[in-house]
Amino acid sequence: MRTRVTELLGIRYPIVQGGMQWVGRAELAAAVSNAGGLGILTALTQPTPQALADEIERCYAMTERPFGVNLTTLPTAVPPPYDAYLDAIVDSGVRVVETAGNTPKAFFEKMKRHGIRILHKCTSVRHALSAERNGVDVVSIDGFECAGHPGEDDIPGLVLIPAAARALKIPVIASGGIGDGRGMAAALVLGADGVNMGTRFCATREAPIHDDIKQALVRANERETRLIFRSLRNTGRVLRNAVSDSVVATEQRPGGCTFEEIRPLVSGQRGRAALESGEVDSGLVWAGLVVGLIDDVPTCGELIERMVAECRQRLAAAAATFASA
Ligand SMILES: Cc1cc2nc3c(=O)[nH]c(=O)nc-3n(C[C@H](O)[C@H](O)[C@H](O)COP(=O)(O)O)c2cc1C
Repeated sequence: MRTRVTELLGIRYPIVQGGMQWVGRAELAAAVSNAGGLGILTALTQPTPQALADEIERCYAMTERPFGVNLTTLPTAVPPPYDAYLDAIVDSGVRVVETAGNTPKAFFEKMKRHGIRILHKCTSVRHALSAERNGVDVVSIDGFECAGHPGEDDIPGLVLIPAAARALKIPVIASGGIGDGRGMAAALVLGADGVNMGTRFCATREAPIHDDIKQALVRANERETRLIFRSLRNTGRVLRNAVSDSVVATEQRPGGCTFEEIRPLVSGQRGRAALESGEVDSGLVWAGLVVGLIDDVPTCGELIERMVAECRQRLAAAAATFASA
């Protein structure tokens, strides 16, 4: 399965595990990389740049294959020391970084000076073109289906993936709503050079979250996510639960609400506690529409092998069915 993405990243299959706050730790990243994909640690899951350096060392001890680190730069009241996190990444010798959010151009330049391959995640063709101009190597384009921040344009993958593939010269990784070999085959046919998954990797044996959360993802159908922070123009897609219902209800009150009014409900620490305790209704659980396609908790190795086999089989079956006589 060679594509521009496998060549560029030195991986066997064009399957990437996107950065995930509280979930992207060494156990998961190493399992994905060992299975032939690209596992990604999440920088800000670690409380300090030194803790990130230690986590990267832990990951090196668990896999000899390439893995990456996600650095998400979002506007926050008290920004983390992004420069120091980036230094920890550069000093550790990691070869691939996934950036997301409003990444400063100086960060791209620094990574490039150190020979790091940059995957930039974004949700629109215009942002992808700007990232290409700024020198990133690959764009991961996140459709409206995705967990996390789908942006405000609401363009699903069926249009966004080919639109990005047509507009960009650099390789495109399709992200959002992909959970099996059918989705992977579709993404490749739409012009992507690989796929990125978040939610699907949360429901694997190695994901470092409570089994009750994994079972909640298995139980949920495709109608059971909610869009929060819409009224604040910072949309997030999360699992439907008591907390996300309450956030949406507060936002929909006549006159709307301020972030301060919902802040106690949506704190990152509360979400982390939910993932660790398994109490699904105790915090935000980030998840995408693909929950409707998840019905088991395999190992990353089983998942990736199954996806690749199904992808090949779907492509071959389509070719056989529709090839002209
Ligand atoms: C639990 C969870 C946490 C996430 N945290 C981040 C994050 O910190 N930074 C980021 O760039 N993307 C984050 N994402 C988005 C994923 O990297 C990926 O883009 C997205 O999950 C793709 O959509 P999918 O879930 O439909 O596969 C998160 C996703 C999940 C499920």
